Parts: sequence; C-alpha cells; structure tokens
Amino acid sequence: MAKILIDGGKPLSGTIKVSGAKNAALPIIAGVILSTKPVKLTNVPALNDVTTISKVLEALGVKVARTSNNCYEFDASGKISEEAPYELVKTMRASFFVMGPLLARLKKARVPLPGGCAIGVRPVNIHLKGFEELGAKVSIESGCAVAIADRLIGTKIHLDFPSVGATENLIMAATLAEGETVIENAAQEPEIVDLAEFLNALGAKIKGAGGPSIIVEGVKELGGGTYSIMPDRIEAGTFAVLGAMAGGPIRVENCNPNHLLALTAKLREMGASIECGNDYIIAGSEGRLKASEVKTLPYPGFPTDMQAQLMTAMCLAEGTSSVTETIFENRFMHVSELSRMGANINIHERTAVIHGVKALEGAPVAATDLRAGAAMVLAGLVAQGHTEISQIYHIDRGYEDLVGRINRLGANITRIEG
Ligand code: EPZ
Repeated sequence: MAKILIDGGKPLSGTIKVSGAKNAALPIIAGVILSTKPVKLTNVPALNDVTTISKVLEALGVKVARTSNNCYEFDASGKISEEAPYELVKTMRASFFVMGPLLARLKKARVPLPGGCAIGVRPVNIHLKGFEELGAKVSIESGCAVAIADRLIGTKIHLDFPSVGATENLIMAATLAEGETVIENAAQEPEIVDLAEFLNALGAKIKGAGGPSIIVEGVKELGGGTYSIMPDRIEAGTFAVLGAMAGGPIRVENCNPNHLLALTAKLREMGASIECGNDYIIAGSEGRLKASEVKTLPYPGFPTDMQAQLMTAMCLAEGTSSVTETIFENRFMHVSELSRMGANINIHERTAVIHGVKALEGAPVAATDLRAGAAMVLAGLVAQGHTEISQIYHIDRGYEDLVGRINRLGANITRIEG
C-alpha cells in the first residue's frame, strides 16, 4: 500500500505552481461528446480521475490521444454508444457527467447511477428531474439512470439546490436542445464558467454562467477547437493554507486569487499575511494564527472542498474555532485522524468545535477522502515528528505530484509505493 512519509516541523517557503482544475477538466472532457469535430484540451491535470473519465469516453467510442502530460486530443466524430460502462463509472462518480452530453447528442443515455462516497450519499435526483423537464423520459433500470427523448425542448428549470454537477449536466443537455433553456438557482462555481466558456468556444450559446440564472440557446451542432483548463482553485487554496500554517512565505503561482476570496479573507482574519497578484498568492504568517469560525456554502461562500484544510490550520490556532459543514452530510472524517495527532476537536451534528493546541504530533493516519487526505499532508508538515499517511490513492485523484512539489518548499516528505 503506497504511503506518504513526512518528518514535520520544518519551515517551508518557496514557489509552488498550481495545476489545471480537476473539477473543471472532468465536466469539460465529458462535454467533448457534444461535438463531432476534433477538440484539444491543454493544462489538463495529470490525475487518476482524468484518466478514468478519458477511459469512459473511449468506451463510448470517442478517440482519445494524450499528446503530453497535460494535453489531450479528442475525436467524437464516430459512432457513440449511449451506454457508459459500469466497471468504470463505479470507480468515479463524476463519470455521471456523460449523461447530459449523451442525451443531448443521441437523445438517449444509459449511465450507471454513481455510488455515494465517503462524504455522503450524493444523489442525482436534481440532474434527473432537469432531464425530464427538458423532455426526456427518465427511469432507473438495473442500477442505471436511463433517459430517452424524441426531442429535447428548451424550458425553464429551477434547481432545488445549486448543485454543481446538476448545473453542469443540464447546461450540456440544453446545449443541443431546441430553443432556450433557463437554469434558475444554478451553481455559481468558477468551474461552471469554465465549462460554459469551453462550450461557447465550440459554438454553443450560453450566457450568465457564474451567476444564479444561466441561459442556454440550443444550437444544432458544435464545432471543434482548443481550450485551456482553468487553474485549480482548491489546490491553490490548499497551498495558501500551508503557507499560513508553516510560516512561509509560499508563493502560489498560476492561480486566480479572485476564485478564493472567501478563503483569503478568512486566512487574513486569522492573522495570516496574504498578498494577491493577478495570477499568484503569497501566503505566510508571523507566529500563531488566531481562532475563527467558518460555514461552508455554495460559491461564492466558503468552499466545502477547503473545509478540511482550514480545520487543520484551526487545530493550531490560538483560541476556539468552529467549522459548520452545510454541503455534505459526512465530511468530518478527517476529525478522527487529526485527533490522533493531538488535535482537540468535538463534533456537534454538522459543527466541529476546535480548541487550538500548541503543537500536533506526528502519527500514522489515513486519507479518508480526497481533501481530507490533503489536510493530513498539511498536518504532517507542521506536526512535530514522523507522520505516515495511508490510503493515498484518494490524494492521487486530485493532486498532481503533490509530494514532489511540496518537497521543493524544503519539506522532508517522501512517497513509498507498496
Ligand atoms: C462537485 O460535486 C465537486 N466535484 C465536489 O468536489 C464539490 O465538493 C461539490 O461539487 C460542491 O462544491 C466535481 O466537480 C467533480 P453538488 P457534486 O451536486 O457536483 C446534493 C472534490 O473534492 N445533491 O453540488 O457532486 C449532494 O448530495 C469533490 O473535488 C442532491 O441532493 O456536488 C450534496 O449534499 C468532492 N441531489 C450537495 O447537493 C443532486 O441531484 C452538493 O452536491 C445533486 C446534489
């Protein structure tokens, strides 16, 4: 079993470059299905999840060529199957993003329902209800979501919750529908904007992405093109928290600070020094951070994907902090792992109360999900002594060469394959 080994407590500083955004690349790659012309993507992060969704596309009949570590070329001009393979979809729930494009292009789709995951049940009811409102007949058959439509007709869809995935799937379904679709109470995350800009680059007509109301004027077909994936704001935020915790300064390059306003405001409130340029953040701190409180919310609120990382910083802050997780029902699994390192945290329903301690102690811990794994790396880097992190396949899903890049900041961190 591969592990990450850390001897913590060393001062860390230097420059770290951010990769392309996983949560933009996954829906955008699924969106390739909408076009019958060649599509080239650059700044694609080299992640296991990207490999998985590329395999799903190949299984559907799309030609996929990885021309370099971060560049892919796609050709979906051939015959496309409407059925996504269970063996692949079950390994990554974001494969469900192919449902909207398949329905738009073929007027039929059969995609295995994505299982829940460690952080929650994660249903897809909002996706399916939107497909029905566009005119599809939706059913669940042998664990698959099945959607069939004679025609997809643009309409007004109001999302019960601003679901990121549902917003993305419905934008893609509406792209080739007849007439205008308005998605109300849409998710406003930057990854939605990146998807819309990608589809518009291929000839789609999407307006309002990034706001609560997205208008999609259906078109007959999409052309080809080249698109560069936006920088990963969660990876950037993870490194900014590291700078604030370890003292830094750490210069986080190739990022968009405007995507992280909730985080940088919170870090400043905790006493970190945060300097933002147009494509970088310099994060550091003079001495101990101060306690604070945070509640995760849909964008532009504080991102749930940064919750575990900020909680780790709060473990060492002076005073009592609190974290309320409103997006997922089970996203506190890192609490028990942090407690093994000496953190003092109590959970009351959806709120964790963190009593700051002077130091964390290295220990054997596990990555329980993608962002919790990143939080354990942060904890190990500032803890006194040796930390061993297992189950790091979670980390590989979302962070390209994390160990190599953090090593270059002066950390004593290695990875062993096992
Ligand atoms: C996306 O997941 C991200 N994943 C998640 O990042 C991120 O945490 C999440 O958005 C929230 O920002 C990708 O983009 C690949 P949601 P998604 O639909 O689309 C409920 C990471 O670490 N819901 O906005 O699945 C759902 O149960 C991952 O990179 C329904 O009830 O998130 C959850 O409680 C983790 N019915 C809430 O909405 C639905 O049909 C938010 O889910 C859909 C969602």
